[in-house]
Amino acid sequence: MVRKIETALAQAGRKPVKSYGFVNPKLVRGSTVLYPDMAAKRATGPRVLEPVEIYGLYGNETHFALEAAIAEIEGGLHTQVTGSGLSAITVPLLAYLKAGDHLLVPDSVYGPTRSFCDGTLRRYGVETSYYDPMLTPPALAPMFRPNTRVLFTESPGSHTFEVQDIPALAKLAHTRGAKVFLDNTWGIHHFQPFSHGVDVSIQALTKYPGGHSDIILGAVTVNSEEDWRWLRLGALELGNYASPDDCWLALRGLRTLHVRLKAQEAAGLRVAAWFAARPEVARVLHPALPSCPGHEIFRRDFTGASGLFGVVFQPRFTPEDVVRMVDALQHFGIGASWGGYESLVLPTTGAIRRSEGTGVFEGPLARFQIGLENVDDLIADLDQGLAALRGA
Ligand SMILES: Cc1ncc(COP(=O)(O)O)c(C=O)c1O
Repeated sequence: MVRKIETALAQAGRKPVKSYGFVNPKLVRGSTVLYPDMAAKRATGPRVLEPVEIYGLYGNETHFALEAAIAEIEGGLHTQVTGSGLSAITVPLLAYLKAGDHLLVPDSVYGPTRSFCDGTLRRYGVETSYYDPMLTPPALAPMFRPNTRVLFTESPGSHTFEVQDIPALAKLAHTRGAKVFLDNTWGIHHFQPFSHGVDVSIQALTKYPGGHSDIILGAVTVNSEEDWRWLRLGALELGNYASPDDCWLALRGLRTLHVRLKAQEAAGLRVAAWFAARPEVARVLHPALPSCPGHEIFRRDFTGASGLFGVVFQPRFTPEDVVRMVDALQHFGIGASWGGYESLVLPTTGAIRRSEGTGVFEGPLARFQIGLENVDDLIADLDQGLAALRGA
């Protein structure tokens, strides 16, 4: 029976019969799996593409429960959980690419993805070219080479929130024989990757699915058996593993994801609109606002927003003024990551790594993650933060 996202989040991955009747899946920890006899061992040994307990490293029913849930939420066929959001990026890149291949990556990509491309992949003979995330297919087409194997996308981009035209870019990539990877962490269930042409969808479960800033976890989802072979066998060869405790917590996080996200989306929009009306602000980089590059694509392709966005301050302010504002805030933690229940802020001007001559903004930037606190409290805090920015 077809179920909508709220129902899927409440039910996916649960099999009470397998959990002594309890509501939630079991938390299983283990390395060795014991077999009753050699016939049983021989029967399970080759079934590495299935959710079967063979050896702890290959996953157990806690992993499989989360993988089934994420596959359903992403609208895909199979999911592989990974030890972190970053390894949900590096594992499939290593699984699909080989020496001599070429990879296209948006200039707005998450910084550690860029470090991996410029470090490990380069050392292993894979060349990366960075492209402007807002390029149209005709403008991007000349950057494809005969050996371009992957078009990597991240929408919206890290720190600068450009929303990419994934369906159009995917069409181009497929005509050139390249696979389309998407870091779908911001979009979560608001962007359905496979109905928009994506082949490999990546989620940092550390963020909203975890939701409580207490786990590190990732997931990679694919929508064909052929892609599953590439991904699953690559992940096994690399020794990828995710903590069952973290998988169990992510499953628990999924049950409340919809209400948390709805509240954080609404609060984020209120704060973003408040910022947009302030004279200290040049532009708000929130995909749901027209001031964000790709806003029209967001309206076409997404069913909602998260509570993470950027603010560009007026050029008269310096990065040091922004630091003064950040230090003055009382309700915002200063820290990396996002998707937890608590509000965070991070000055991001220095974090933007771009090809020469791109990624230049009117003034200094900061990134805000809006949590579940009272929005009036947050706005009052930001008001006094802006006074500190002005040096008042
Ligand atoms: C867009 C995006 N992708 C991936 C990651 C990596 O997730 P993790 O911190 O679990 O490695 C992050 C982390 O901030 C992120 O913002």
